Amino acid sequence: MFINTRDKYSPKSLAEFVYPSSEVEELATAYASGNIDTPLILHGSSGSGKSLLQQLIPNAIENSKALVNDVKCADLKSASDIHNLYGRNKHFNRTFTCDGQRFNYIIIEEFSITNKLLVDAFKIELDKTLGTDLTIFSTNRFSEIDGGIRSRCEEIEVKPCSPSAFFPHAKRMFDAEGVAFDDSVLMKCLEVTYALNQDNRKYYQAIDKIFRSFSKIKQTN
Ligand SMILES: Nc1ncnc2c1ncn2[C@@H]1O[C@H](COP(=O)(O)OP(=O)(O)OP(=O)(O)O)[C@@H](O)[C@H]1O
Ligand SMILES: [Mg+2]
Repeated sequence: MFINTRDKYSPKSLAEFVYPSSEVEELATAYASGNIDTPLILHGSSGSGKSLLQQLIPNAIENSKALVNDVKCADLKSASDIHNLYGRNKHFNRTFTCDGQRFNYIIIEEFSITNKLLVDAFKIELDKTLGTDLTIFSTNRFSEIDGGIRSRCEEIEVKPCSPSAFFPHAKRMFDAEGVAFDDSVLMKCLEVTYALNQDNRKYYQAIDKIFRSFSKIKQTN
């Protein structure tokens, strides 16, 4: 069996997201209510689910696929790029509407800005959200983020899932593919994966490998 389980079984909604901790679950649930517009910084190591959460929270608020303004931080080269992102011209008049949504969603991935002019542009925009913007940053360079930006945001560390937290999600993949696999061996496999790399992507890769080994068994039988 040759499957990219990450493509096939990545959570499609917040309800399927595997929470690494109750703190992350509480915060994501609070944002999903649509009642919070404080900018949010999701930080943590690679493959912990930050970018996934950046997409799933707006979808949960809208109860459907949200229209989001999704940018890679490296593409923001000037203060006016940042003002434009928020739908304001250089005189800071809003030209953007929410397109019938609860918020204008500004999703900024790989956030890492140290240039003072760009930092100031963000501070100005984050102060002017007017209750209609929701900015969600993700970064694995949290320590480099300007204190003034952090001061305006909710911050949470999204940690990789422990093997026992990920186990039910992994088990669902085996069940969905109709593959019988011993629970304790699966758990051991997740534990070894976590010991080598604390990265949720590695769990999917380990499961892909198990599925590949099933193809080999089938071919040799
Ligand atoms: N908590 C989770 N529950 C289920 N799947 C997850 C979870 N976290 C990550 N994944 C899966 O791992 C993949 C990588 O997650 P994601 O891209 O969100 O990581 P990231 O934290 O943004 O990593 P990076 O710092 O490298 O950008 C996603 O496609 C998703 O399928
Ligand atoms: Mg990411």
